[in-house]
Amino acid sequence: MTYQLHVGPCEVVLKSVPDNSVDAIVTDPPYGISFMGHKWDYQVPTVEQWAECLRVLKPGGHLLAFGGSRTYHRLVVNVEDAGFEIRDMIEWLYGTGFPKSHNLEGEFNGWGTGLKPAHEPIVMARKPFKTTVANNMAQYRTGALNITACRIFTTEELSSGRGALLSHQRDGNEPTSNYHQAPEGRWPANLIHDGSDEAIAIFPANAGAASPVRGTEPSAAGTGNILGMRKRVATHHHGDSGSAARFFYCAKVTPAERDEGMERFISFSASEMTGGRKEGSAGLNDPRAGAGRSSGAKNPHPTVKPIALMKYLCRLITSPGGTVLDPFTGSGSTGRAAIEEGFSFIGIDLDPDNIVTASARIGYSYKQMSAPAAPTCQNSVPPAISRSLNPI
Ligand SMILES: C[S@@+](CC[C@H](N)C(=O)[O-])C[C@H]1O[C@@H](n2cnc3c(N)ncnc32)[C@H](O)[C@@H]1O
Repeated sequence: MTYQLHVGPCEVVLKSVPDNSVDAIVTDPPYGISFMGHKWDYQVPTVEQWAECLRVLKPGGHLLAFGGSRTYHRLVVNVEDAGFEIRDMIEWLYGTGFPKSHNLEGEFNGWGTGLKPAHEPIVMARKPFKTTVANNMAQYRTGALNITACRIFTTEELSSGRGALLSHQRDGNEPTSNYHQAPEGRWPANLIHDGSDEAIAIFPANAGAASPVRGTEPSAAGTGNILGMRKRVATHHHGDSGSAARFFYCAKVTPAERDEGMERFISFSASEMTGGRKEGSAGLNDPRAGAGRSSGAKNPHPTVKPIALMKYLCRLITSPGGTVLDPFTGSGSTGRAAIEEGFSFIGIDLDPDNIVTASARIGYSYKQMSAPAAPTCQNSVPPAISRSLNPI
């Protein structure tokens, strides 16, 4: 497990990275919305930048890139025009956004110009390859998703149907073998939420399956070993409880997590961090900036992503021991995530100050990961000594 950090435009830095050498790209690039007046956010990444990413990625390697809801289409078109195959879109839902709206008064009181932001789309794309997925995995360890490592744990007993727990291959054919309950949990979905009350309210219990059980479905006897037929009670719902627990969830980054590893740095005020906005102004609470806008922080980057989310995304598309690239590293959240998952990491950012921040944060994770495991008292420390070490 190693990491490298580079300062400079990614399209230039990537020229020194060999062809087909990176396993996965997980990145949060500029959204092209001039976020808080930052010049680096004026444009979504260009076709040329994605073409360099494609070149360094191994055949079958996946790209996961966040986009803004207003500019996502431009992001995806450029990724596709660079030669990637678009595979899916993951949605990260959250309840903490603030509407950015020009509200009218007088006769038009109650009219405004913007909705409350409540999601960030993530494009999932893949570098084309010539052979089968199985052969490509054998040659490069890329091309497939690590479903098992990303299953959503549940203690619920689930049956067949839309419960999303089942693990047959969705290749356009009906499953030929019996359903099996996967003990590791539910199949990961292309939806993630932040666990907030608002997000959870979208998934009222028992409303998750597409249609209620009619009670007239075929009996279990005629359908072999398919599990759960006995539970077909009219008015209940197919598959599972339909709660938000079906999906991976991760809240927006906390102030403590933003600054972890930066204890030796000085704090920036909230106003400095948001490009001179007044204390108490709406911009300090901008949704993309995450938590912490109303107070200062040691990590001044305005768009820090949560580590748990980035870990999940790295794990989904990277084989054990692989290398993750983030060409738009910012304060290094992908790097922290990659290292904490045991992957190697290559990070690039235009701004040297961001690389200093990223270096402190990723170094923190690296030290945590390479620290020898704390000795346990069991077997090695006699009870009398362990009591004196732990007086409580
Ligand atoms: C949205 S931020 C990434 C924030 C990151 N996810 C974090 O948690 O800190 C995007 C970053 O891309 C960088 N950037 C913009 N254009 C770039 C380019 N051509 N090459 C490298 N970095 C670039 C910006 O400096 C900015 O820090």
